Order: sequence, then C-alpha cells, then structure tokens
Amino acid sequence: MSDTSDGQPNSAFTPRVFSGIQPSGGLTLGNYLGALKRFADSQDQGVQSVYCMVDMHAITVWQDPDALRRQTRELTAGFIASGVDPEKSILFNQSQVAEHAQLAWIFNCVARMGWMQRMTQWKDKAGKNTQNASLGLLAYPALMAADILVYHATHVPVGEDQKQHLELTRDIAIKFNNDYGVNFFPITEPVIEGAATRVMSLRDGSRKMSKSDPSDMSRINLTDDADTIAQKIRKARTDPEPLPDTAEGLAERPEARNLVNIYAALANLTVDQVIADHAGQQFGTFKPALADLAVAKLEPISTEMKRLTADPGEIDAILRRGSERAREIAAPILAKTYEIVGMVR
Ligand code: TYM
Repeated sequence: MSDTSDGQPNSAFTPRVFSGIQPSGGLTLGNYLGALKRFADSQDQGVQSVYCMVDMHAITVWQDPDALRRQTRELTAGFIASGVDPEKSILFNQSQVAEHAQLAWIFNCVARMGWMQRMTQWKDKAGKNTQNASLGLLAYPALMAADILVYHATHVPVGEDQKQHLELTRDIAIKFNNDYGVNFFPITEPVIEGAATRVMSLRDGSRKMSKSDPSDMSRINLTDDADTIAQKIRKARTDPEPLPDTAEGLAERPEARNLVNIYAALANLTVDQVIADHAGQQFGTFKPALADLAVAKLEPISTEMKRLTADPGEIDAILRRGSERAREIAAPILAKTYEIVGMVR
C-alpha cells in the first residue's frame, strides 16, 4: 500500500475494508449503487470486510424505538439481498460492539470543535437552530472515525457525500498519532469510485437522491415494486435534447447525466459504453430501457428482502454472530489505545 500524504507509511497495516449505513429508514438506489452493490462486488478480492448497521449514528436525530429495530433488521436484509455474504464479510450492528462508543469518546477529546462545526452534514442537518440539535449530531464524525479506526480499517468504500467525514477521520488519526508520538492508527483511504458515486434526485439533478427528501418520486427505494420503479423513471425530470454522442456532452445536463450514470452502474458498464449504445436516443426510448434494467436488477433484491425480514430471529442471530467476530478485532485495538492514552487497566 502506498505511503500517505503526510509521509506516514500505511504499509504496516493489513488491508481491511470497513463501511457503515444508517438504519434510519428506507434504502435508496443511491445507497445501493454508492455502497451496497460495491460491497458485494468487492467481497471476493481477498480483503477482510466489516460492514455495520450504524444504529448509534441513526439516533443523532429522533428515531422511534420500534421503527429503529425494524429498520435495522430491514437494512441487514438489504445487505444480504444485495449480495453481501455474512459468512465472507462481518455484518453487525454498531450498538452491539461497545468499543465503537468507547473509542469515540477518546476521539471526542482529540477532534476540535472547529472541525466538527465545519462539516457540511452538520450544517445541513442542524439547520439554523443549532442550539436545539443533539450534541450527538455535532460529535457524529468522531463516532464515524471510531467505527473505522477501531478496526484499523485502511479502505472505506462510500458515496461522494461521505468524503468530508473521511477526511476528518484522517485528521483525527494524524492528530492522535502525533499527540501520542505513535504510528498506531492508519490513515484511511476513501474509496469513492464507479459511475454512481453520487446518485441525484429524479426530480432535481442538483440534489442528491436521499431517503429524507419529502418527495417519494425523487428516489427509487429498494422496496419499490416493478410498476413504481418504472413510473418513477418515466416521470424523472429530463431535458428535451436527445442523448449526446460523447460523455462530455452530458457535462451541462445534470438530469441526463444522472440517468446515464444510473444505467452504467446498474449494467456494470462505463458511461462511455452506455453513450456508445444509446447516442442520439430520445428519453422516450432511453427511459423505458432504463426502467427495464432497473426492474430486472432491483426486483430480485426487494423480493429477497421481504423473504429475509419475515424471519427476524435469523437476522438477529446473524447480527449477534457478526458482533462477536467484530469484537475480536476491535477489543485488542481499543485496549492498546487505552494503554497509549494512559488509562490504568
Ligand atoms: P448513509 O447511511 O447516509 O449512506 C450509506 C451509504 O450510501 C451512500 N449514499 C449514496 N451514494 C451515492 N449516491 C447517493 N445519492 C447516496 N446516498 C447515500 C453514502 O455515501 C454511504 O456510503 N455517515 C454514514 C454512515 C457511516 C459510515 C461510517 C460510513 C457511519 N460510520 C464509517 C463509512 C464508514 C452515513 O450517514 O451514510
């Protein structure tokens, strides 16, 4: 592995992948293409991967307890239905591995207030009334850094929207290593790649597709049925021009670019290949092709999610077993951190 920008070699660390998704209700096509599908595609590359339902992140904004339980199980089903194998990867929920919260406290004391207040997500979610936001919402990125670094994870696959949090994770690792004069935490590499690292709203090409958008027509949910998926794509906002003959022709056309990116990611093609196949087509032709592709890829996932969520006991057993495996990695790293910090054990 290459040396990192601050000159600290990362080669001392065994490559390990970590990523997390909030069980805050409803998985979107953005979560699937930006995260889940890539997790499934990469799990046979011989690197240990650890994937987490970050329930403690979810409660930084209010969650109804019954809904949180249901959403955590549904998210787990979403991972498995998308092809993440709980035997090959470690799949668990964050609150069952207390080491995340324990390391997060130490990172709360490493990170600076100014770093937290600069985070775009904090500004977006707290809005104007910051006095009324939870303290957890401000501290959120330190918990995220702990999620990653408690496994000494070297690679974190995420969508584009998480980039700033991963830069902060690097800052926390660098400051910890400098403050304590150690090379203990790796400087994590964000892995933001593929045709759909930022899937946009179907109603507004300048906004990210999100489960919190008030309009359900703006997103495709992994639980949508075939008719709903097709209808949402048919009604997606576009411009009146046909598709261009080069990818550069999409530069000033955010809605068209978004649909082409989605097509490419779903079909495992590059944007150039999609353009080569569909150049000159009107949306009246391209949208039905995209709808067919989306239904073919997503319907089996939603069917499998329904089957899996019918047996919550089985899902809970998977999470419990995953948590035990996760703790085997996290506990010694936390113990060593306490020793470095000077906690008497
Ligand atoms: P979350 O739960 O909002 O999203 C989960 C993953 O889905 C990606 N994603 C998208 N990708 C492309 N286009 C979109 N429209 C889109 N919407 C969401 C996100 O980038 C993410 O990869 N803070 C994180 C959860 C987290 C985490 C971590 C991630 C907690 N600890 C440690 C990585 C490592 C979050 O809120 O993601």
